[in-house]
Amino acid sequence: MKFFVDTADTAEIKDLAATGLIDGVTTNPSLIAKSGRNFAEVIEEICGLTEGHVSAEVVATDYETMVSEGKKLQAIASNVAVKLPLTMDGLRACRTLSDAGTAVTVTLCFSANQALLAAKAGAAYISPFIGRLDDINIDGMELIEDIRTIYDNYMFETEILAASIRSANHVKLSALAGADVATVPPNVLKGLVSHPLTDKGLAAFLADAEKGGVKV
Ligand code: E4P
Repeated sequence: MKFFVDTADTAEIKDLAATGLIDGVTTNPSLIAKSGRNFAEVIEEICGLTEGHVSAEVVATDYETMVSEGKKLQAIASNVAVKLPLTMDGLRACRTLSDAGTAVTVTLCFSANQALLAAKAGAAYISPFIGRLDDINIDGMELIEDIRTIYDNYMFETEILAASIRSANHVKLSALAGADVATVPPNVLKGLVSHPLTDKGLAAFLADAEKGGVKV
């Protein structure tokens, strides 16, 4: 399973990239706005911090402007994945950009049928939003499972990029459901390593090593 980090905070990305655990980055217009930085500038910097795909989202809603924004984003760096919303114009733009060799992430996916359409439009990634479904009392994980089944039935190569992940449990369940990628906020990603028994066990080993004069 690949891990993308879901942020436009370059300090966080640098920090996590150093662990070797990160396979790419996702951003969205809200995360870019939160960074307070120029769009192209921050995307270019992020693309230099990872060799993996960096999703950068268009803000247009009509086909022509989406394609031209997509081309602009793609020109920033070769590892940009152009992110398009799951609308009819978005799917049409996905087909055009994918046919031209651009990796496309189709975002804001909330149903299995939407995911089926994105695969047919040639998306490199489909991004189902788990947390936002959970927020309205719909099981986000069931969506990941359904998409996995449909993509496997037809051998679609579109990768399932589980998004809107809010907890460590979301990461585990996405992995169990067969998501190809999880895009995870930095705090959730860092939290995955923690276990109280690891801390307790390590403290005991270190204490015993000191007592017994164990040196490496
Ligand atoms: C990532 O690509 C999505 O934009 C992001 O995961 C959305 O997360 P949220 O629902 O927590 O805003």
